[in-house]
Amino acid sequence: DDLGVVAVGFSNGQRKSGVDAAPMALIEAGLLDQLRDELDFKVTYDGQVHSYTDVIPKEDPDHRNMKMPRTVSAVTRKLSEQVYEHASKGRCVLTLGGDHSIAIGSIAGVAKATRERIGREIAVIWVDAHADINTPETSDSGNIHGMPVAFLTGLAKGDNEEMFGWIKDDQKISVTKLVYIGLRDIDIGEKKILRENGIKAFSMRDVDKYGIGKVTDMALGWIGSDTPIHLSFDIDSLDPQWAPSTGTPVRGGLTLREGDYIAESVAETGNLVAMDLVEVNPSLEAHGASETVRAGCSIVRCALGDTLL
Ligand code: ARG
Ligand code: MN
Ligand code: MN
Ligand code: MN
Repeated sequence: DDLGVVAVGFSNGQRKSGVDAAPMALIEAGLLDQLRDELDFKVTYDGQVHSYTDVIPKEDPDHRNMKMPRTVSAVTRKLSEQVYEHASKGRCVLTLGGDHSIAIGSIAGVAKATRERIGREIAVIWVDAHADINTPETSDSGNIHGMPVAFLTGLAKGDNEEMFGWIKDDQKISVTKLVYIGLRDIDIGEKKILRENGIKAFSMRDVDKYGIGKVTDMALGWIGSDTPIHLSFDIDSLDPQWAPSTGTPVRGGLTLREGDYIAESVAETGNLVAMDLVEVNPSLEAHGASETVRAGCSIVRCALGDTLL
């Protein structure tokens, strides 16, 4: 199997430094070697952690309450082109972040390539403590890593090419093909958006009530078999006990085993076309950093087909 890997050292979708060091940490922990040697992937990786400094503007004042809007827009645009390159050649694409704003680029690239290649819309499984569906208007923080889903679904509109206006219809996803797992910290404006758009979401309460097996079945049932899947996995979906080194940790999360289970189940469908692993920040909670990195490696291996037996 062919795998395209894009490493994105980007942290400007939020305000804590260090999340840009995650791709190197994951790769140094042996992730790509494991994918090659143990899972037999033919890995295409340019050997670089991209920070796309060439497209970052010198000045980037707040706009509509967004922090670093031109920077995030330009970087995710570049990333979308790189991911598109891989996906249009039929490769499964692994994007290593970086904060979760990078999903604007990875999903835009995969959505477009999948439409062109097989004429299908992708489904997105968003595993996260957060819904990341704030619009610039509903966000309290102004951090764009809390907004990617709003831009990708068209619920938030870009202003112009420099400010997310580059995201065209063929790069967008449908709210009906989006499903969340692991939610437990949703802003008031986000709750309204989820409700008004009938977006399918499984919170930690659903995991408590039904168990991870049933929740995963329901999530996969919602998007339907035979639909190409993009898995966007925020490491903060896991409980801080398993993944303490992340910018916005929230207690009461998934166990590592539950996270692996979701990833294994997505692999089992045979429909995975791309995945993101985001929000690992090795500089936070230093003593838990290697554990968080290992958790991230485990999730990726599971999603790409590693099995227990
Ligand atoms: N809802 C909060 C915000 O919009 C937190 C978002 C956290 N996002 C993340 N990708 N970790 O600022
Ligand atoms: Mn999150
Ligand atoms: Mn909150
Ligand atoms: Mn997130």
